[in-house]
Amino acid sequence: MDKILVLDFGGQYNQLIARRIREQNVFAEVIPYKSITPEEIKAAGYRGIIFTGGPNSVYDPASPHFDPAVLSLGIPVLGICYGHQLMAWMAGGQVCTAAEKSEYGKVTVRIAAGETGTCESLLFKGIPSESVCWMSHTDYVRTVPEGFAVTAVTGACPCAAMENAEKKLYGVQFHPEVTHTEFGAAMLRNFALGICGCAQDWRMDDFCKKSVEELRGKIGPGRVLLALSGGVDSSVCAALLAEAVGSRLTCVFVDHGMMRKNEPSEVRNAFSKWNINFMGIDASERFLERLKGVTEPERKRKIIGEEFIRVFEDAAKKIGSVDYLAQGTIYPDVIESGLGDAAVIKSHHNVGGLPALVDFKEILEPLRLLFKDEVRQLGRELGLPEYLVSRQPFPGPGLAIRVMGEITREKLDILREADAIFREEVERFAAAGSLPEAASQFFAVLLNTRSVGVMGDARTYGYTVALRSVTTDDFMTADWTRLPYELLAHVGTRIPNEVRSVGRVVYDITSKPPATVEWE
Ligand code: XMP
Repeated sequence: MDKILVLDFGGQYNQLIARRIREQNVFAEVIPYKSITPEEIKAAGYRGIIFTGGPNSVYDPASPHFDPAVLSLGIPVLGICYGHQLMAWMAGGQVCTAAEKSEYGKVTVRIAAGETGTCESLLFKGIPSESVCWMSHTDYVRTVPEGFAVTAVTGACPCAAMENAEKKLYGVQFHPEVTHTEFGAAMLRNFALGICGCAQDWRMDDFCKKSVEELRGKIGPGRVLLALSGGVDSSVCAALLAEAVGSRLTCVFVDHGMMRKNEPSEVRNAFSKWNINFMGIDASERFLERLKGVTEPERKRKIIGEEFIRVFEDAAKKIGSVDYLAQGTIYPDVIESGLGDAAVIKSHHNVGGLPALVDFKEILEPLRLLFKDEVRQLGRELGLPEYLVSRQPFPGPGLAIRVMGEITREKLDILREADAIFREEVERFAAAGSLPEAASQFFAVLLNTRSVGVMGDARTYGYTVALRSVTTDDFMTADWTRLPYELLAHVGTRIPNEVRSVGRVVYDITSKPPATVEWE
């Protein structure tokens, strides 16, 4: 399979570069610049290299540098932002800093015409001579190295792009990987396909077939154990293993009683087409008992984490020793924890402590090369239902951190009903194209406050439900979703009517920061 190396110099968009290349059906992987040498790059057979951006200045001796031999391997290189400056620096050009040249945000980039009066750069093939690109830099390339030509400029930047076409070395000061760069995807496509000549052989149907075969070969007659949370990653991991080894897979699914409406049965049904050993454990009584009288959020989280481990420990005792423990680790977890480290154990509360409890020989992580959107694609390929594959994130402690104050079965049931109504309505509006912006995560919260109302001629004293919907790319920061008034009005009517113990519905209009997405 053809592949491109994304050599990471600490840029904030490094993962995005790999994703954009993979969107062209070309495999790309991110490797820290310290973890690989030019010889290893050559030996690994990469068809192209992309130097990422980064926060440093190349003339700072402490900044990340790389062996200039990489530019003479005969492998095409594309430098982006810091990577562009680094390439210029390595090849003998001049990089300067000048506050007045600093550019941030959308900037018009003009592609320079070649001798024939038209743009001859393969990188910009099919791209208009003026387009909007995303810039974020103070340093700039003042003099290009010998053998290079400037191929684009902006009003403030004399070298927005450069290239040495003969050696297949290209640099861009802007970020083609972000969607704000109008023709960024086309430029990366030009690089991967036109310049590197990569075949488009990274496809989820192939990946699925190959992984199933590889897992069958590796596992042989062995037994595999997986803790299934019902989230996208563990569900797709389970489906892949189910396809590969069927009944030799045991999935332990712990229902802690804090799941959303119908969730436990939905998860079970999604796997009914495979002949796997599905251990569904209803531990809700146990969890509720331990949570009795507990109101402090961190304490709730801790208790659920601990109790989960105990339930799993009991299950592991029954199962006995297995050959493999499978985990739904995905590529961003691998990149973030630094490549080359020992096996990555997800820090998600309900799987983090498992390896210590299970008697197994080896960990399997069949999704460790995939980005989230690829995991979803793989899930579809495997025939998992859309509601599982495109699920919004759901916290490990579940509804426990969405019921304020003490958790009781009654409060959980009320919240489940209210939450189901809200989600149903948001999904209905989204499906009709009536949401002005995408809602990334949306749910209801049951407050510990009751308020007075009137229904018919009678006084009511019901619970308050808060609706929360956020729009975000990464959940590190989030904005509250501008949901249409009609949607809010409809939900505000439906919930008190259909969930009788709720007397009031409010909408949360705080962003993160200062608030968090979850209330606890
Ligand atoms: P916060 O509330 O920290 O949430 O702004 C950010 C994202 O993380 C999810 N979240 C969790 N996910 N275990 C999880 O797997 C947890 O304990 C947990 N707590 C928060 C939250 O739903 C949101 O998507």
